[in-house]
Amino acid sequence: MSPLKVDTENMLLAKNDFSLVIFGASGHLAKLKIFPALYFLALKKRFPAHFLVVGFARSDMNNESFRMHVAEAIRTNVEAVNESVLQDLLTHFFYVQGNYDDEKSYFTLSKTLDQEEKGFAAGAVRLAYFSIPPTSFGVVAKNLCKGGIRSQNRGFRAIVEKPLGHDYKSAKEIETQLTACFPLEEIYLLDHYLGKEAARNIYYLRLINPIVERILKYTLVTNVQITAAETAGLEGRAGYFEKVGTFRDMFQSHMLNLMALLTMQLVPREELPRARLDALRNIYVPPAADLSEIIMQGQYARSNDHPGYRDEEGVAADSRTNTHVALKLMTRVPRWQGTPFYLRSGKRLHAKETKIAFEFQNPYATTYDIAPNRVEIILQGEAGMRIHLQTKMGGSEPAFRSLLLEDPLVCVGDCLDEHGLLLLEAINGKRDWFLSFEEALASWKLIDPLQAYLEKPETPLATYPCRAKNPKEVEEWIRKEGYEWI
Ligand code: BG6
Repeated sequence: MSPLKVDTENMLLAKNDFSLVIFGASGHLAKLKIFPALYFLALKKRFPAHFLVVGFARSDMNNESFRMHVAEAIRTNVEAVNESVLQDLLTHFFYVQGNYDDEKSYFTLSKTLDQEEKGFAAGAVRLAYFSIPPTSFGVVAKNLCKGGIRSQNRGFRAIVEKPLGHDYKSAKEIETQLTACFPLEEIYLLDHYLGKEAARNIYYLRLINPIVERILKYTLVTNVQITAAETAGLEGRAGYFEKVGTFRDMFQSHMLNLMALLTMQLVPREELPRARLDALRNIYVPPAADLSEIIMQGQYARSNDHPGYRDEEGVAADSRTNTHVALKLMTRVPRWQGTPFYLRSGKRLHAKETKIAFEFQNPYATTYDIAPNRVEIILQGEAGMRIHLQTKMGGSEPAFRSLLLEDPLVCVGDCLDEHGLLLLEAINGKRDWFLSFEEALASWKLIDPLQAYLEKPETPLATYPCRAKNPKEVEEWIRKEGYEWI
């Protein structure tokens, strides 16, 4: 079969009948990501005949109003919805109103499941999706165990969205709370970046292209940059974001996991989780006289007709929450010894773009006026892989022009969005792209001291106008380091 054809026989399908209980079903994540992902899976016919999606939240809704809420979320976030697929999908949705700390609500939930699961085949599984603040993880886990939801002879998975706590200590507490209720193999810690085809492809591009792996190392590369720029601002999430900020929101899991995929040892697929963990443990903050040489924070300010962060609803007028962070890290992995990795992420920037760039040494820079070679892997935005070379122009004197080799890296084959792919994998009990507690804890270990530095009242907080590429201080900083942002 041509590699470009979709192999429908090997499409990823939910292998078992299942019930998915979404805690936080009236929240932002459910609306923006989970419901649209379920719609696409239904559209692509990945579900069995028997499945349930049960929303559990505090909001006052019943089955009917919940279905309307889900339909609206899907119509808002998906272009050209197929109404008949949507209407059919909605018949699988149910709602249980309850308080996370109220045991009785879980018995109602259990009853609803038992009632609606009639006709489910043997081997059916129940999944609890924790799309709630980490402070509620413990109580939900405890009540889930007591409420009879795991008591039947069904497979069970607890899918837990990042962030796992707000620091190492709280993450450790959550580990204790969750493992007191569920065996480790039932816990699926989800970072949706590990469900992105483009992120997984970092591992495969390295694995199956020996020339790529040969050149990506400290002997040739001067610096590596990982960028996650967003045009979006708060999107009504001030309640969450004010306490968290970009550093914890984007770096603790997404950015560090991208760096781990880039720097980890290339191992067979079954050993991926261990290799990612080793890579995370090898990352370190390079020594510096002062942390201001390592990390910088910024916040978007009012500009032209755009409100600043402090103008957003729910944000304190004197908020010091960062919406942009730039950070320099290194790794002890021998192939990257001494190479700086520059990571940056921010909200309300000029473009939605997630990319990785490698800049190569330029030994002829003093002889010819040429830009260094670069390899770029663009995960989101105008996705693609680009190799920047130089080639000679006509004439007896050497003059050069840039030569760009690129491929749009369009996903071909069984392409699913990240939450859809991870959900199917969780239903099927496939865990290699979910995180372990050790990985989450290793990330927090790195984050904590830097976060403490950012929180100090005397730590500078730069401002930047909406649609900027970077705060200007961050531009100056990288120049002082001897490079330019790519
Ligand atoms: C989430 C963060 O985890 O990732 C959001 O909480 C952020 O603040 C989002 O916007 C970015 O994800 P993506 O897939 O759009 O790059």
